[in-house]
Amino acid sequence: MNALILAGGFGTRLRPLSCTRPKMMFPLANRPLLDWILESLAQKGVTKVVLAVNYMADILKKNFASLKHGIKIVYSYERKPLGTGGPIKNAERFLNKDGNPFFMLNGDILSSINYSNLYDAHRATKAEATIALREVEDPSRFGVVELNGKNQIQNFVEKPNEGQLQSKLINAGVYALNQSIFSLIPNGRKISIEREIFPKLVKNRSLFGYKFDGFWIDSGKPNDYITANKLVLDRIACSEPFLEKEIGISSKAKIIPPVAIGSNTIIGDDSQIGPYSSIGDNVTIAKGTNVMNSVVFPKAWIDRFTSINGAIIGEGAIIGQWVKIEDQCIVGDHAVIGDNVTLTQKVQICPRKELNNSVLQPATIM
Ligand code: GDD
Ligand code: MG
Repeated sequence: MNALILAGGFGTRLRPLSCTRPKMMFPLANRPLLDWILESLAQKGVTKVVLAVNYMADILKKNFASLKHGIKIVYSYERKPLGTGGPIKNAERFLNKDGNPFFMLNGDILSSINYSNLYDAHRATKAEATIALREVEDPSRFGVVELNGKNQIQNFVEKPNEGQLQSKLINAGVYALNQSIFSLIPNGRKISIEREIFPKLVKNRSLFGYKFDGFWIDSGKPNDYITANKLVLDRIACSEPFLEKEIGISSKAKIIPPVAIGSNTIIGDDSQIGPYSSIGDNVTIAKGTNVMNSVVFPKAWIDRFTSINGAIIGEGAIIGQWVKIEDQCIVGDHAVIGDNVTLTQKVQICPRKELNNSVLQPATIM
């Protein structure tokens, strides 16, 4: 079976960390999101993945090359971004070899979906496309569907206005698509599958839904990314921390699972790591520092008596002593945060910025 993964978005909501890496390279428990997705596809018999790329494709190629978890990886390049539909047509030559349906995935989704069940559900109907569906409390920032008793989609509205639809069933960003989809998509222009193709399929009565439970998250926003990291930690490091080799953890440090710690990382005396933290490779955490509910990218350096809670610390960032960083703040790669600074409320610090004053309300510091 083949799968097409949309890996070309700009990751706007994860700036500034997405300025230097694509969303699919963001680590979850110290492994890139794409790695987790490939692993779950491999477990369900997918043997080839086409990555639809444009933005920083070279970083993905450098990290994943042409084979991972037994899956052959092919790169389908876009000279300019083609949206969520254009990449399908662009990748036609890689996907239409066997005449069978294929999967398509939004590249920022982490889920426990059973791809085989989606495939079976797709084959059991006369669908041209089957969308995996989830129920959520607030559907407004997703594609929303209305479904009949036969799992046929009666209506699909992308990012509906308040009150436009009563349904709480959303497009989970995972699809099974027939080869016939290629004939619906024009060549070479940006297309939104959600706004331009799905409404057509609804009219033809050939769009179906497949509801699933288990975990699901779109990791494209800071708090959702932190939650995605938690979900992975719950799976792999629930009772025991997930530790790489060669870690210098002080015997006086407290590690509270779920936690993942990368190789060659140092944790000082009386520090507390966790619960729910991922600390990358080659990180230094000095004494008396607490890191909970956060992601620390590789090579960051965090001085003593600092507290990081619900935040994301970029690669090689340097954080001073007695610093407090919390509430979805993002510190860009190689930024330098001075002693005694407090950052709270979704503050974003640009890469390489040196900051010596506190910022206590939402702002992007350039
Ligand atoms: N190759 C390529 N080219 N990929 C792209 C492009 C492009 O021009 N634009 C976006 N993508 C990728 C993104 O990287 C992401 O993996 C996926 O397409 C969806 O784009 P998002 O920008 O993340 O969309 P969204 O989260 O607002 O909405 C989508 O996902 C929701 C589920 O999380 C829609 O499909 C909604 O209907 C859905 O509910
Ligand atoms: Mg998204």
